[in-house]
Amino acid sequence: MSIEFRATQPDEYRRAAETVCAALMAAPPTDEQWDERGRASWDEMPSYSAWDGDRCVGHVGHFLVETVVPGGTRLGTGAVSRVGVLATHRRRGIAKGLMHELVADATRRGLPLMSLRASEATIYERFGFGLAGEFSAIDLFPRRAAPIRGAATGGSMRILRPDEILTVLPDLYDRVAFGRPGVITRPATWYARLFKDAIDGSKASFVAVHSDEDGVDDGFVHYENAWDDDHPDGPTGKGEVLDAFGATPAVELALWQYLCDVDLVTRWRASERPIDDIVRFACSDVRAYRIRSVDDEQWVRLVDVETALAARTYAPVAGEVAISVRDPLLPDNDGVYVVGADGAKRRDDVTDADLETDIVGLSAAYLGGTSWHTVAATGRVVADPAAVALADALFRSTPAPFCGTFF
Ligand SMILES: CC(C)(COP(=O)(O)OP(=O)(O)OC[C@H]1O[C@@H](n2cnc3c(N)ncnc32)[C@H](O)[C@@H]1OP(=O)(O)O)[C@@H](O)C(=O)NCCC(=O)NCCS
Repeated sequence: MSIEFRATQPDEYRRAAETVCAALMAAPPTDEQWDERGRASWDEMPSYSAWDGDRCVGHVGHFLVETVVPGGTRLGTGAVSRVGVLATHRRRGIAKGLMHELVADATRRGLPLMSLRASEATIYERFGFGLAGEFSAIDLFPRRAAPIRGAATGGSMRILRPDEILTVLPDLYDRVAFGRPGVITRPATWYARLFKDAIDGSKASFVAVHSDEDGVDDGFVHYENAWDDDHPDGPTGKGEVLDAFGATPAVELALWQYLCDVDLVTRWRASERPIDDIVRFACSDVRAYRIRSVDDEQWVRLVDVETALAARTYAPVAGEVAISVRDPLLPDNDGVYVVGADGAKRRDDVTDADLETDIVGLSAAYLGGTSWHTVAATGRVVADPAAVALADALFRSTPAPFCGTFF
């Protein structure tokens, strides 16, 4: 029987959800989970599915968010999620057909970017995604880390009551979180998922808010604690940091000073921190901050190259670089883009580009987290070293890109 690809209809969402769960090794949603959060999050996601008769055998979708790009502008982004094909139907081109539908959907919606987190790093380059940002998993030992240098003083902390979380956090996140390229807006329905344990009290999970001296909220940290009965020194506390956003570096550091002051906890763990984390350098003993691993975080695809390149800023260095881009899936992007300190413009009249790349290379370099030097080393770029060096100088951006929200 042939496979039909189509936009998923609302009465098909649950069957699509069951397919995604099976592919991603998760239990299907219970009636309660579906009614509480599942249905609403599917309602807001453009979704495409593959059907073998009345069986949903594959699915892709994207949440509609915005991503901060270097310079601070936020660009519309299809945040790709719920990608899965049933084991019975793999390697027959179903994911490929669905991803092509999704990229076309992003184009129709005028989204300049798409981004995703990959279950396997080998899947998405073929659709134009490049590795644009990494994260590190860390341990922090508070007794040695404190005092945290540079932490704001004079403010105060309060722990939100569970019934305050959904009213305080969306607005606070929107005011304080957008300090880095790669950070995304969070759709309203995500909060119930991200803060579930703090809201329903099923774990020792807390949200603590920092307020400045005038009582204005300017940062928050979301964390969990538990007893570590197996610790070699005897029972002690351990903690996991899930979110820590401050309006300024000093506020962000004050959140970590607060964590260091929590009694009983002798080790904090965070699975996702920026690779240039200021917290590491702010520890009194920098070795109290241990990097356990570094992994790929966000994969980005430029859907509208002209808009995306024009939306970010470039470093104030002399010279321009003409970049020729090839995009087999979206050939409207094929062309030459001239990038200088004042911005980027499409210039198809320029015939002798300084640097040639495919869409994967450009997408990897876009947020400033992957250097052109690195991309060129993989063979994706044709350019002389001087053009690569100039492109790197122009695209350089600090702080490093980091998203910090799993979707
Ligand atoms: C990853 C997944 C969606 C691929 O689905 P699929 O229908 O088998 O993929 P396709 O047949 O369309 O393959 C398209 C291309 O991707 C390649 N590919 C597919 N899955 C791959 C994988 N896991 N690793 C490397 N390459 C992969 C195929 O070889 C094919 O390459 P080609 O175009 O060069 O011939 C599917 O294996 C799956 O559901 N995996 C478990 C859930 C998961 O990891 N989802 C992704 C969440 S981010």
